[in-house]
Amino acid sequence: MARRSLRVKGGLRLRGDVQGQACAINAQSPGMTGESVGDATLHQAVIAATGLYTPPETLTNAELVAAFNAYVAKFNDDNAAAIEAGEAAAMTPSSEEFIVKASGIKSRYVMAKAGLVDPDLMRPVIPERPNDQVSIMAEIGAAAARDAIARWGKDASQIDAVICAASNMQRAYPAMAIEIQQELGIEGFGFDMNVACSSATFGIKTAVDYITSGSARAVLVVNPEITSGHLNYQDRDSHFIFGDVATAIIVERADLAEGGWDVLGTRLKTVFSNNIRNNFGFLNRAAPEGNGAADKLFVQEGRKVFREVVPMVSEMISTHAADLGIDTTQLKRMWLHQANINMNDMIGRKVLGRDPSPEENVIILDEFANTSSAGSIIAFHRAHEDFQSGELGLICSFGAGYSAGTVFVKKR
Ligand code: COA
Repeated sequence: MARRSLRVKGGLRLRGDVQGQACAINAQSPGMTGESVGDATLHQAVIAATGLYTPPETLTNAELVAAFNAYVAKFNDDNAAAIEAGEAAAMTPSSEEFIVKASGIKSRYVMAKAGLVDPDLMRPVIPERPNDQVSIMAEIGAAAARDAIARWGKDASQIDAVICAASNMQRAYPAMAIEIQQELGIEGFGFDMNVACSSATFGIKTAVDYITSGSARAVLVVNPEITSGHLNYQDRDSHFIFGDVATAIIVERADLAEGGWDVLGTRLKTVFSNNIRNNFGFLNRAAPEGNGAADKLFVQEGRKVFREVVPMVSEMISTHAADLGIDTTQLKRMWLHQANINMNDMIGRKVLGRDPSPEENVIILDEFANTSSAGSIIAFHRAHEDFQSGELGLICSFGAGYSAGTVFVKKR
């Protein structure tokens, strides 16, 4: 349980969860450097800046559906005899109308479009790079980070740690975070973490803990998501879901930060579920009979996810807000994970007790689709300029695991 001396400075109160229990702790800023001091002095953490990298190509629903339907026609043609004999099932075309109605997605950005719209490929084509070149994930992560650092207005040398928090990593090791660290000339340490769509909020929480404990002055959290690499473009139920992007967040010690957002509280939750799963992994080669099977890509039971995650997340937001003494009607804005517009509408309604306005419940899925961990951060990045000092907002993620994270913030 928490070993913390509770000292007050400037009336700031920071609340976090320690081993599942809410605790209230207070901020103190004696001017430490980036090293862990091992004492119980605690700092207030601030989200100081965010950054966004948007891939060069867009892929509209019309283009995606045309490619899928061409693939279906070809599959049915090639397998006509087996289908006729009842030995194979005919594939059914996809539709733009369904995609918009069921998900709210109209378009997405992708790193490599050509292979995705080629009915003979239906996958991205991203050639391997030699080891002396930056890897593509590190490249887009660093691009988002550079955007965040430019908005922050300080030098990368002020950052003490890099966390690469994303759904998929390019390789097992060395860590993407360490490569990004090298790209940006950041000292200190870096590591990767994967909590699927919740990776960004889990990364923020980890960064906040490093700040509050005195381990770092500023932490860079990077979310490069090349989701096109794990999406099955031959699966009618899910071929439209994802898009590629990278986001970055700088979490900084409050006494060093100018402006930004006080982190009022962070909370994480995980509950095991098989309803969103990807069995790709390093042991696949030990069972070659499964290589190339659909379960080595993203698979979900979308209806079950919807039914189970909406109540879990709504309840988590309401409880966390209550524990922080926040009435949810005080929230000016929610930046929720962007998986499905109907999910976000329903969570917004449950949390506010009425239909949220588009300003209260920001949607970017129509343009970006589901970008996994980056979704709530894109929403925050795109829609926060109008906040006045003291106004409250919520960054919230949810996804595979199941996992969910809530981060309540107040404009400084
Ligand atoms: N084009 C046309 N019709 C389609 C289709 C497509 N691409 N995919 C499915 N359909 C059809 C189905 O065949 C079904 O038809 P039927 O009623 O005649 O059987 C109908 O549409 C409904 O299918 P269903 O899968 O139940 O759709 P849905 O309304 O549940 O929407 C999701 C599907 C995936 C958009 C939705 O379940 C969802 O978003 N769930 C949560 C996903 C999520 O958050 N995942 C987290 C990932 S991080």
